[in-house]
Amino acid sequence: MSEKGANAMWGGRFAGGPDAIMEAINASIGFDQRLAGEDIAGSQAHAAMLAACGIIAQADAEAIADGLDRVRADIAAGRVSWSPALEDIHMNIEARLKELIGAPAGRLHTARSRNDQVATDFRLWVRGQCDDAIAGLEALQRALIDQAEAGADWVMPGFTHLQTAQPVTWGHHMMAYVEMFARDAGRLRDARARMNESPLGAAALAGTSFPIDREMTARALGFERPCANSLDAVSDRDFALEFLAAASICGMHLSRLAEELVIWSSAQFRFVALSDRFATGSSIMPQKKNPDAAELLRAKVGRIIGAQVALLTVMKGLPLAYSKDMQEDKEQVFDAADTLQISLAAMTGMIGDMTANRDALEAAAASGFSTATDLADWLVRDLGLPFREAHHVTGALVRRAEETGRDLPDLTLDEMRAVHPQITEGVFGVLGVHNSVASRTSFGGTAPEQVRAQIARWRERLP
Ligand code: ARG
Repeated sequence: MSEKGANAMWGGRFAGGPDAIMEAINASIGFDQRLAGEDIAGSQAHAAMLAACGIIAQADAEAIADGLDRVRADIAAGRVSWSPALEDIHMNIEARLKELIGAPAGRLHTARSRNDQVATDFRLWVRGQCDDAIAGLEALQRALIDQAEAGADWVMPGFTHLQTAQPVTWGHHMMAYVEMFARDAGRLRDARARMNESPLGAAALAGTSFPIDREMTARALGFERPCANSLDAVSDRDFALEFLAAASICGMHLSRLAEELVIWSSAQFRFVALSDRFATGSSIMPQKKNPDAAELLRAKVGRIIGAQVALLTVMKGLPLAYSKDMQEDKEQVFDAADTLQISLAAMTGMIGDMTANRDALEAAAASGFSTATDLADWLVRDLGLPFREAHHVTGALVRRAEETGRDLPDLTLDEMRAVHPQITEGVFGVLGVHNSVASRTSFGGTAPEQVRAQIARWRERLP
């Protein structure tokens, strides 16, 4: 028997209980209660396996399975009060199980340790977050594809250095993000596949002398196979780091799109109008409609990147196998996953509701000498000029237009001939923005037919 105040689970060698500060710094129940569902699933798989392997009696396994169902229901109904003295979710659930079923509860922890238990719970949780994030990404992609389809041939300025570069289509711009978010989903799928191995049965670090069946528990929990090295199984947190890396990159993409929405919804651009549902007003300036959701999204990625750096820092100096440092793996991942989820949902809402201003897009597309490259290409194609000379001639024409406050299509043929005498009427055919985008039919280019082909490809992939 342990001394008064000592921990009921491991107090055998302890003469007394912990200092209050020790209890406060040590307890993880304040946050790892989020793993309750995974912990119960893992315990049920473990108990069934112990009975199947003849390590505990079938009757005990059944009592444990039923008891854990009741614990799950108690938790769902808010009937469980978590105890910091019991440190974490694993010991809180076991203690509750003991209250409910008595002695058989004491057999559940045979041939396992909290080290493989927490590694299993956390993997299951992160795996679920990968699935949720992938679903969130697919919803966002659908919203972007809808926008792309509506404006597959609308023209807008394409930018480099945020300076007008060449006209592109609205659909093309939307579909660029569909590609980015597809890679994010791909990274999550890759991470999910790699993390889908079961640590359960690695026990504290060395495996166990009981004749357990790790394949059985792995299967029951939807893992592909058991982790092959028990030391690695309990000390690996790569799965959480890979999730955070994928989430960070995805958050960065969300932030870039959010930044575009902030710029595009400004009075100076007026490329898009965000819906009232995703904007706020100002308490002092009645005219204002602020893109708060986009601004918050732009900022939220900082938390996700921060979580990745924090966990890398926790892990980087740890010798094998488990160290208590690893208890610090959870809160950051929880926060990052929540942040990613709400960011994806908010972006999907904004994109779905947003109205693109076709006229403003087209007016902007035509300004800023955006078809200068088309003019240079025409000089190469129709007059046989070397590109470098064509570039020079076009530059002179742009200067001429700029000096007189006009755009390229406003120059007269005579003015153009003054710069290069062989220029013909035909040049005006390439100076219009619609001709410009229609001509960019190379694979992956901005021509509406290319955009529509990409939309069709994605519609098939994302039913
Ligand atoms: N609460 C612990 C954690 O999150 C569970 C594992 C505890 N293991 C141990 N040997 N003390 O990491």
